[in-house]
Amino acid sequence: MSQDAVLTLLREKNDSHLSGEEISRKLGVTRAAIWKDIRGLRALGYVIEAQPSRGYRLASVPDKMFADEISHGLKTKLIGKRILSFDEIDSTNDTAYRLAGQGAIEGTCVFAEFQKKGRGRLGRSWLAPKGENLLFSIVLRPVLTPAETAKITLTAAVSVVKAIATITGKTLGIKWPNDVYAGDRKVCGILTEMSAEADRVKFAVVGIGVNVNADRRELPDTATSLKAVAKAPVSRMALARKILEQFETEYRMLKDGRFEAIAREWEEFSVTSGRRVTATVLGRKLQGQAVGIDADGALWIRKDNGLQERVTAGDVELVR
Ligand code: BTN
Repeated sequence: MSQDAVLTLLREKNDSHLSGEEISRKLGVTRAAIWKDIRGLRALGYVIEAQPSRGYRLASVPDKMFADEISHGLKTKLIGKRILSFDEIDSTNDTAYRLAGQGAIEGTCVFAEFQKKGRGRLGRSWLAPKGENLLFSIVLRPVLTPAETAKITLTAAVSVVKAIATITGKTLGIKWPNDVYAGDRKVCGILTEMSAEADRVKFAVVGIGVNVNADRRELPDTATSLKAVAKAPVSRMALARKILEQFETEYRMLKDGRFEAIAREWEEFSVTSGRRVTATVLGRKLQGQAVGIDADGALWIRKDNGLQERVTAGDVELVR
């Protein structure tokens, strides 16, 4: 605990030094205790310079998704008000789901450096090398019917694309419902799961996996990373904070009943609308031209016989 307090004081000093005496006075602890905390922080990867005459200076922070680091400078009121981070976990979605069932507040986030059982949509697995990408889940308590949860997924996809554009300057595309693509390779996947009664969602968990700094060869053949797209490493921390902030903005719009505005943004980024697609819905295949999404986030496909069909779940492949 006093380790966190020491870190906070060093951060407040920005780039300048803070004497051991001042830390000891402010925290009411001995110089020996401070030295122990400094050693603990260094072991976590914080680079802390020590100069006998001037004291300590925080020179750099580790590239680790520590909860305190993410919270620091995070400009949100709801999303990420509570953050938990793990070095290894089975799946952030599973942990977030369990915590939500135990009453975790809306906006609780679970981050991990590595998932042993990362899950994708439709029973697939989600693979990511340790410490390179973003793997996190957000607990939500929306006032929606179960059928409306598709809206959350589309909202998350829009937020991710906007955040990526802000941080990297690259505008990526969304393939219905929620895959973020750079050209024909996937960069981000989103998995929304919920606990619901027949007519009301009790809670939802949105899990987001973004390939940030992984090398292409560490990822499945159909995937790429932001580092490969931007041709330079991307700060996971800056991107994570931006996604949480952007998601808060978009989620508030959703809560205020303004999904149409989000759907319009989604259409702007869509690489599906207007394309010839094959949709697979519960094992049934359907081909045609993707027209766009409706007010509930469902995809309309104009089949070759001219009739339109509404797709609410499943997978879509773009036909070349
Ligand atoms: C997909 O495209 O199929 C969705 C992939 C979702 C992956 C993320 S990574 C964080 C969270 N935890 C999981 O186990 N899955 C989601």
